[in-house]
Amino acid sequence: MKPIIILYSNGGTTRKVAERINETLECEVAEIKPKVPYGPYLKALKRAVPEIDNGIVAEYDAPDIDLSDIDTVLIGYPIWHNDAPPFVLDYLKKQDFTGKTIIPFSTAGGSNIKGSLKKLQDAVGSAKIKLPYSSSMFKKDNFDKWKEEVSKLLMLTE
Ligand SMILES: Cc1cc2nc3c(=O)[nH]c(=O)nc-3n(C[C@H](O)[C@H](O)[C@H](O)COP(=O)(O)O)c2cc1C
Repeated sequence: MKPIIILYSNGGTTRKVAERINETLECEVAEIKPKVPYGPYLKALKRAVPEIDNGIVAEYDAPDIDLSDIDTVLIGYPIWHNDAPPFVLDYLKKQDFTGKTIIPFSTAGGSNIKGSLKKLQDAVGSAKIKLPYSSSMFKKDNFDKWKEEVSKLLMLTE
């Protein structure tokens, strides 16, 4: 069965990681899009920080996809204050991931994806999180190793 990639990217960095992994997976890619884009970095910070601090979930367009036949979902997001953006978590909470495998990947300035996994697990319920991947400006890129592991996992779960 084919996997799917679901992502949010404000500045394009996370989308680039999705495109790179999809050169191998060749699967459907769907994006979560805030109704009002966050814009350049400082503008995004100015808006997102009070939203995060006050538990505000920005309005967004959810991708129009059918997950019923999908068994592995790659989820990509930028790290915002050590977590996935609130509206990404909100979208995930509203899906049924029962029995599915989740492979999360993130991009960040320096943070690791690990800090975001607790809230991610809460959002995806009983789904199994495997092979989380972080790409940050200050860390050696281990993309090729991750790509290999993802390919192996997908072959095993076919
Ligand atoms: C609101 C906001 C919060 C952020 N919080 C963090 C953070 O906690 N740790 C970090 O390393 N980078 C943080 N960043 C940087 C982004 O994670 C990083 O630039 C990311 O690669 C952007 O991905 P994108 O281009 O796909 O949107 C933050 C950026 C924004 C706009």
